[in-house]
Amino acid sequence: MQWNFEDIQKQAREDVGAVGDRQALEAFRLKYLGKKGLVAAIFSSLGTAQPVDKAAIGKGANDLRALVEQLLAERFGWVNSVKMTEERVDISLPGAGQSLGHSHILTQTMQEIVAVFEGMGFVTIETPEIETEFHNFTGLNIPVDHPSRDAFDTFYLDAEDPSAKGRRLLLRSHTSPGQVRIMKQHKPPMAVIVPGRVYRPDAVDASHSFMFHQIEGLLVDEKVQFSELKGLLTEFCKRFFGPKVIMRFRPHFFPFTEPSAEVDINAEILGIQRKKWLEILGCGMVNPKVFEGVGYPKGRYKGFAFGMGVERMAMLKYGINDIRLFYENDARFLKQF
Ligand code: PHE
Repeated sequence: MQWNFEDIQKQAREDVGAVGDRQALEAFRLKYLGKKGLVAAIFSSLGTAQPVDKAAIGKGANDLRALVEQLLAERFGWVNSVKMTEERVDISLPGAGQSLGHSHILTQTMQEIVAVFEGMGFVTIETPEIETEFHNFTGLNIPVDHPSRDAFDTFYLDAEDPSAKGRRLLLRSHTSPGQVRIMKQHKPPMAVIVPGRVYRPDAVDASHSFMFHQIEGLLVDEKVQFSELKGLLTEFCKRFFGPKVIMRFRPHFFPFTEPSAEVDINAEILGIQRKKWLEILGCGMVNPKVFEGVGYPKGRYKGFAFGMGVERMAMLKYGINDIRLFYENDARFLKQF
């Protein structure tokens, strides 16, 4: 068989000129260098060739292979650069951007409230969310099976209280157990605040949730009066809501304070229409039975305590009308604060 190497090389150059993408480049490679390609066919023709032609055929095959390899290398670079152009990054486009996160509105509100009290000399202490019946109820003068326990009903854990046989641990239904814990550990005088989550088996609606946040306050010394509690809370509300706030103290009952009151904020003044008054906290003078329960000498100390709902405070301050918004984690809501 006679090979016209000149024509073959010309054809190879033409073929490679028509290659437009990687697939076509591979087809080109196979046509010349593949197992059944032209170079292989030329070599195998050596077997039947005239001895005088063998050297020329061998050289022709080798030259062709070298040429095709060179063309492949050149074309590979070209195909790749075409691909890069197609996929090129347009550095003039604005970047995807990364927005900075920030604290949840409830965290911000807690920090704001805590900061006001710390500014007045209170110290912040956190106490456990998983509590004993003693701290959540009995130590606060809420006896077992007493109807007032219903108001602070809670979720029980499937775990026994190591300090009281047969009694189960529970999720605290208010931050007041912090009072008992702290008084058991420290001697007056003291002024503390206890922020944290609390739990109640309430049906969820626009103003109730099975989990919410409270901030407890407790001040104990030898001489403490109700008027001081009133003055402190009035000053606090002015600093938190602004000077135009209108509040009222409404007589109430709590087993752990005597006398007791609830504080409402006038929501209209703050621009919330849903209800005229919104309750934000419970308070009162520490019941002497609570002092006795923590082992303080009878009649020695006086004190006041208060517990406020953080969600309520945030709703009033920022005009939020549904408590569920705090927990749904909808970025459109959270981004506003
Ligand atoms: N623990 C009470 C509640 O959750 C609030 C309160 C705290 C009342 C301290 C009086 C004193 O409703």
